[in-house]
Amino acid sequence: MDLIQRPRRLRGGEVLRKMVRETRMDKASLIYPLFVKEGVGIEEEIPSMEGQFRYSVDRLPYELERLQHAGVGSVMLFGIPDHKDECGSGAYAQDGIVQKALVCAKERFPDLYYITDVCMCEYTSHGHCGVLCGHEVENDATLELLAKTALSHVQAGADMVAPSDMMDGRVRAIREKLDFGGFKDKPIMSYAVKYASAFYGPFREAAGSAPAFGDRKSYQMDFHNRREGIKEALLDIEEGADIVMVKPAMSYLDVVSEVSKAVHVPVAAYSVSGEYAMVKAAARNGWIDEERIISEMAVGAYRAGAQIYISYFAKELARLMDEGRIG
Ligand code: PBG
Repeated sequence: MDLIQRPRRLRGGEVLRKMVRETRMDKASLIYPLFVKEGVGIEEEIPSMEGQFRYSVDRLPYELERLQHAGVGSVMLFGIPDHKDECGSGAYAQDGIVQKALVCAKERFPDLYYITDVCMCEYTSHGHCGVLCGHEVENDATLELLAKTALSHVQAGADMVAPSDMMDGRVRAIREKLDFGGFKDKPIMSYAVKYASAFYGPFREAAGSAPAFGDRKSYQMDFHNRREGIKEALLDIEEGADIVMVKPAMSYLDVVSEVSKAVHVPVAAYSVSGEYAMVKAAARNGWIDEERIISEMAVGAYRAGAQIYISYFAKELARLMDEGRIG
């Protein structure tokens, strides 16, 4: 055969394969989501997310130490309060769970980077991401509460805030509040392109944040839509988002790709709880090779155009990168 092009030539050995790799990754781009809970001495495994735990503030430093050791430099904090009410006041309380966790974590591990999820659903008695008027989530009345929440997080030491509620105009409301409060330099990573997804199931068990009635389809996006994702990303950037996120990751890589071409800010992909739970369950049964699967999932997100990857597998991915198996 007189073939001129033989693509296999570049696959002949590991050194060459690594030389010509198109996707390079770095541990610095990983973010690890972490659940903090009221109480003392708590380190409880989340049933639907084996290997993931809820920590009370006093136990949090042990996990932060493990992360730092693994070379994962950024965490995203989610709070699980003791008390919930109609307007989610625990979200913006000065002594709220995330606020307390931040004060402790910043003191013990000042070199880690702390991002906070800004949302109401863990704090409202009805489990929706905003305040209600009847059975409707009231967009504009929620904005002030989200902005207050974001401000209280940065006051407690958050390095970045990440609103995940999907109310219209919330990035602008948060930006104005932070600027007015003297925090012009704190970035916002917006969950700009967040779909109403069954992949969040395990998270809602972990955080006790399932809606008491109805669903989130009136604020989170319809998963049939791709162009709308670009609209949401561009809108949030106009309002002041510094980073935009696409969520979930695995079934939405076309969206990651489109958004990353349409914007000039960093794009994050969030591999969510359902993705984690599926991998864990299949691996436990010996049906898949966990390390190889999580490698493909992560590389897929970066290959699609993400610069940042948020994953419950962050520590494992960091190790795989250290070992030169991916990246
Ligand atoms: C809060 C929030 C959710 C997730 C991140 N922030 C749940 C939801 O929207 O219901 C999901 C994360 C995951 O599934 O890992 N609104």
